[in-house]
Amino acid sequence: MQDKNIVGTIRTLSDYQNRFYTTRHGVDASNWIAAQWTQLAGGRDDVAVEQFAHAGWPQKSVILTIKGSDEAAETVVLGAHLDSSIGSDTGESGRAPGADDDASGVASLTEVARVLLAENYRPRRTIQFIAYSAHEVGLRGSTDIARRYRQQRAKVVGVLQLDMTNYPGDAQDIFLIADDTSRAQNAFLAHLARTYLPSLKVGYSQCGYACSDHASWTAQGYAASFPFESRFDNRNPHIHTGHDTLANADEQARHALKFSQLALAYAVELGSGGLRR
Ligand code: BES
Ligand code: ZN
Repeated sequence: MQDKNIVGTIRTLSDYQNRFYTTRHGVDASNWIAAQWTQLAGGRDDVAVEQFAHAGWPQKSVILTIKGSDEAAETVVLGAHLDSSIGSDTGESGRAPGADDDASGVASLTEVARVLLAENYRPRRTIQFIAYSAHEVGLRGSTDIARRYRQQRAKVVGVLQLDMTNYPGDAQDIFLIADDTSRAQNAFLAHLARTYLPSLKVGYSQCGYACSDHASWTAQGYAASFPFESRFDNRNPHIHTGHDTLANADEQARHALKFSQLALAYAVELGSGGLRR
């Protein structure tokens, strides 16, 4: 995996004037991710990219599916949110680059998908990458999707959320958010990091509230985890402002690359039948 690809995705996404869930720019950003992911799929017939339409706002979530070879129809979900926020001034002209929050998460995941598909990886379980819309207005996109999966009794065996991966705010590399997440799956992730990424230092931290889309899945009874860029208290201070730019995070995206590496290990180990089988 290559940090320069992550840089490229963060640049493109943060160059949109904003990615609000209601604006033309926000819709364009969703369409760009869909087009990008469709290119990665390369016409494989076991890979599909769809845009999930939500009732009530125009920005669609984007879902890339790599169909598993098993009959059991178990699914592994890796997600990030595609919208950005500056709290107020949410019209077309508001400036909300959202480079770390959360272009970084979308970019880290896009690099995982690129490598899995370039290597022609064929999982046993279905693997889905989801870029959620309308996160910044109360996790609406992911709530909609997690509820739909629950209604359809989807067998989601694990969910990984990447939201802010590119601001190295601490001496340690990755912090597993302990609240609103699965203890067992967090331990599994820590084990994956020790096994595949022994040079990385992994700690634990807490949000103290339902801070990201992992909570939407937890609320529906699914096992979710949220590896984060720093201790909660040392998070990127520029988020939700016009200063959440690549220049104010890791311009080489070396930090975000660590999250791609962990997410790749997670996708392959769980996608191949690990943890609860
Ligand atoms: N990326 C943030 C959440 C976050 C911030 C996690 C700092 C860890 C440290 C997310 O996009 C966000 O802004 N969430 C909202 C709440 C959500 C329900 C809209 C928040 O934190 O206010
Ligand atoms: Zn965010």
